[in-house]
Amino acid sequence: MASEQAGQELDKKLFGNDFAWGVSTAALQIEGSCGADGKGTSIWDTFTSKKGKILNGDKPTTACDFYNNYREDIDLVKKLNIPNFRFSIAWPRILPKGEGEVNQAGIDHYNKVIDYCISQGVEPWLTIYHWDLPQALEDKGGWTNRDIIGWFTNYVQICADAFGDRVKNWMVMNEPAVFTGAGYFLGIHAPGRMGLRNFLPAVHHVVLSLVAGAKLMRKTLPDVHLGTTFSCSHIEPYSDRPKDIAAAKRADALINRLFLEPILGLGYPIEVAAIKGIQKYFKPGDEDNMRFDFDFIGLQNYTREIVKYSFFTPYIGAILVKAEKRDVELTDMKWEVHPPAIYHMLKKYDSYPQIKKIIVTENGAAFPDVVTGDTVDDPKRVTYLQNHIQQVLKAKQEGCKVFGYFVWTLTDNFEWAEGYHPRFGLIHVDFDTQKRIVKASGQWYANLLG
Ligand code: GAL
Repeated sequence: MASEQAGQELDKKLFGNDFAWGVSTAALQIEGSCGADGKGTSIWDTFTSKKGKILNGDKPTTACDFYNNYREDIDLVKKLNIPNFRFSIAWPRILPKGEGEVNQAGIDHYNKVIDYCISQGVEPWLTIYHWDLPQALEDKGGWTNRDIIGWFTNYVQICADAFGDRVKNWMVMNEPAVFTGAGYFLGIHAPGRMGLRNFLPAVHHVVLSLVAGAKLMRKTLPDVHLGTTFSCSHIEPYSDRPKDIAAAKRADALINRLFLEPILGLGYPIEVAAIKGIQKYFKPGDEDNMRFDFDFIGLQNYTREIVKYSFFTPYIGAILVKAEKRDVELTDMKWEVHPPAIYHMLKKYDSYPQIKKIIVTENGAAFPDVVTGDTVDDPKRVTYLQNHIQQVLKAKQEGCKVFGYFVWTLTDNFEWAEGYHPRFGLIHVDFDTQKRIVKASGQWYANLLG
């Protein structure tokens, strides 16, 4: 089935002229230069310096050296015919302590990146927050401290004022479910905190900050194209047993609905026991400050999850059945390759009348790559992208309001807790020499967009 799909010709014309094609990145994963030009410490600098947190002890210190090589990499975006380039601003570059004194060198740097994109005819898409919280704010409680609403909006205002004259496409935050879930509940991402007493206040303050930040953006820059991005996985129950079906519903609430639904004005899915306790963190008036009418919602999907009832898992009563145990094709992240997942998620998002427009702001795959001379032949990634884009087209042809697709990601990079091991790029990076090689998948994408 997969190979049959791969055989079909994709044509970008089928998506229409108003469809945004792009590629996505994030500051911490590519920039390196973690302490350069006045940049403050981020929670990822702290977390990665602790033993045993990151695969092979990898650190983001140099990454792809995008901080210095941005011109060459933006030239590659252009060379691959990719019209839209998504990147994020590192909060600690702008405000080394998270608040207070502004670091002009940080603003100057992003101005150069933005201006270079524009000079090359590449449209910049900015994510304001992609997980790299200033450590100084984490020291005061980070996302668990309600004061973060003020810290965040102050940062948003500085970005809007500095870059809003040239940047037309903005995303306020990236994947709140992941940075709160992995960072404040499971402790596997920075800042490494655990448990519901960290997770629930973090969730609520993220929602309030996201909305406050979005309102400020709208007020400051009324004409920009404003969105925010959410992670999602298509969820299926392990069996037809009512217990598995109910467990899958709870997992869906936690994984897919927890942030999206309050933003759409539907409130938290508090029918799930784990989430109910969030009400403790409400202050009068909060209900009115959790909703925002974004121009677009960024949908980020990589896989599906199979969910089974579990008596032993507290709060949620559900476990994910690992893809490794299911005899399915895996990526290097041990995620199942399942292209229909993105179709199902598009249909699900499309069914919310409150969503005006969907853009797939991330989709892609890590596979082990082999360098042969000056080439990297990565047929699995080509097939993955082809099949997923095919599913996006299917949803679109059925009337789904999807108006963009961004590949994750441009170059191999620092993949959070997995370090440099998983390679997601359209472009191979030798992390010792910083040499770039466009992979076959990069060439394939360039041909699609050419
Ligand atoms: C997303 C995240 C990206 C990237 C990608 C691949 O969750 O936004 O930063 O790491 O997953 O794992």
